[in-house]
Amino acid sequence: MAKPIILLLAALSILYTASPANAATTSSPSSSAIDFIEASCSATLYPALCVQSLSRYATSIQRNRSQLIQTAFSVSLDEAKSTKTMFANKLNGVKPRGMAVVKDCLEQIDDAVDQLRESIEELKNIGQAKGIGQDLRFHISNAQTWTSAALTDLSTCTDAVAGEASDGGLETSVRARVDGVAQVTSNALALLNKFGTEL
Ligand SMILES: *[C@@H]1O[C@H](CO)[C@@H](O)[C@H](O)[C@H]1NC(C)=O
Repeated sequence: MAKPIILLLAALSILYTASPANAATTSSPSSSAIDFIEASCSATLYPALCVQSLSRYATSIQRNRSQLIQTAFSVSLDEAKSTKTMFANKLNGVKPRGMAVVKDCLEQIDDAVDQLRESIEELKNIGQAKGIGQDLRFHISNAQTWTSAALTDLSTCTDAVAGEASDGGLETSVRARVDGVAQVTSNALALLNKFGTEL
């Protein structure tokens, strides 16, 4: 009876002495993930927005670059989709003059949504970088092309509404939202470009 208890106590004391180290390693991934996100975001045009939009996914990003890039693209797609939904719902109340330009914008956002989906499709296997080689470069290059096209569409939209955005109306809020989408998209592209040059 005494022996198992001694063994148990010995085991517990080992666990106990080991636990401070365990605690350190289990609590640090998230701060090390945040460090990783901050360091990666320093290569983008909008680093603060980049950190803000990605740090809530730190637990799944960890320090994995493919995961970081895929998350950045899904943030961008989500923003584009919610922007599209938001303004599609608001279009009813728009005065006729503004309606045409906002409708054009919606079409451009719609195109950007499709292009970002294509990018994400191209990037779905970048985690298996080993052994893919030229194939990986090909997919990255396709994703860069799709994403640049999405950025062009988004800026066509913001340029068009900028001409109309004098009265603080719908055009102004479209412009602000679409600028936000363009910024997270530009960040995703910058993260991808950096990954591409370091292959
Ligand atoms: C990084 O994430 C990708 C998915 O995005 C996964 O396929 C890959 O195995 C991960 N790499 C490591 C080292 O965990």
